[in-house]
Amino acid sequence: MRIIIYTGKGGVGKTSVSAATARRLAAKGYRTLVMSTDSAHSLSDSLEVQIGGAPRTIENNLDALEVDIIREMETRWKEIEEYVRLFMASQGMDELSAKEMAILPGMELIAALFHVLDYERKGTYDVIVMDTAPTAETLRLLSFPDVSQWYMTRLYGLFKKLVALAKFTIGKFLDFPLPSQAVIRNLEDMNIKMAEVRDLLQDPSKTTIRLVVNPERMVINETKRAFSYLCLYGLTVECLVVNRVLPEDTEMGYFKEKLEEQKKYMEMIHQAFDPMKMFHAYQLPTEMMGPDKLDALAETIFGDSDPSEIYATESPMRFSTEGKFHVLSVRLPFAMKGDIELYRAQDRSLIVQVGSHKRNIDLPLVLKDAELMGAEMNNETLKIKFRREEKDV
Ligand SMILES: Nc1ncnc2c1ncn2[C@@H]1O[C@H](COP(=O)(O)OP(=O)(O)O)[C@@H](O)[C@H]1O
Ligand SMILES: [Mg+2]
Repeated sequence: MRIIIYTGKGGVGKTSVSAATARRLAAKGYRTLVMSTDSAHSLSDSLEVQIGGAPRTIENNLDALEVDIIREMETRWKEIEEYVRLFMASQGMDELSAKEMAILPGMELIAALFHVLDYERKGTYDVIVMDTAPTAETLRLLSFPDVSQWYMTRLYGLFKKLVALAKFTIGKFLDFPLPSQAVIRNLEDMNIKMAEVRDLLQDPSKTTIRLVVNPERMVINETKRAFSYLCLYGLTVECLVVNRVLPEDTEMGYFKEKLEEQKKYMEMIHQAFDPMKMFHAYQLPTEMMGPDKLDALAETIFGDSDPSEIYATESPMRFSTEGKFHVLSVRLPFAMKGDIELYRAQDRSLIVQVGSHKRNIDLPLVLKDAELMGAEMNNETLKIKFRREEKDV
């Protein structure tokens, strides 16, 4: 099973491109699932069919799903929701919003990834196309080695605020219940699954990321940042879809100016992403909705080619040995040397920080206690050196 994840800034055309790709794949005979993890679901609108929280067949070979986080809370995470309800009751607060309180940013993505894991096991589909919400929180989620901890930290942060509020409104602090065994077990289970998800996502023969971008300065800058972070998190970014490109033969005055501008931005895109595989999708005079327009979009992007093709198999993170050193190479296009910080976590894993994003790299056993010998930036690749044990050399 192949997983294609489209990501990019809001409004660039992720949903349209995801829907178009999925329709093309289905037409080529692949058993395809297209799923949206963006809470502002627009996949239904794009495909012009009603989609829900369970896969629905909308076409021959094509199923669609929009992750419904309320439904996921009621099934997958009912223990957690129940705990939040108990907690709120213990503080004399209205329990009605417990469900909403238990939902944290990025949970749609976790839920979606758990669905993906189920389908991988069952072998239900040949290709899954994911349409994601690229918030910073979502990206950061892909970097967390311990999701239950991530969840609990945020939940407790929320509880602290609630307790302060309760103190203020009710005038006293009340004891609150600790998470039950069931809650703990659920979180532990989540962790085990996330480790499996990570293996799946970091395997470039199974999962690749496609960036959707528009020829516009802000969009390009945000996409460059996202690319760095995705690399940092060990995901394989295989290609770029440049959407909303104005055709060169546009003649009208207004568009002429726009075309000049676009040339500049196309150049920026090349400078930033070459030699990555690049597709173009043209700006259409109307919105990109409904099967016919999506198929036209797929045609401008893929032509005769097979959209399930893998355009890059190299993972942006590699381990190797060089003489007296173990070397961890991380491709970090656009990351300035000054932005990078390296340090060890308490559990001996390695923390690479680029700007505000952090990656916790669980080092192979041989590197757990190896001395960090420094790092150098070379050809967009950060090489981190560790001393090898005498006996290994
Ligand atoms: N190439 C295009 N030509 C014309 N309209 C487009 C094109 N690509 C996207 N759109 C329209 O732009 C809007 C945003 O696209 P969408 O796919 O929902 O973006 P995203 O999922 O990234 O937020 C939609 O109304 C869509 O129909
Ligand atoms: Mg969208």
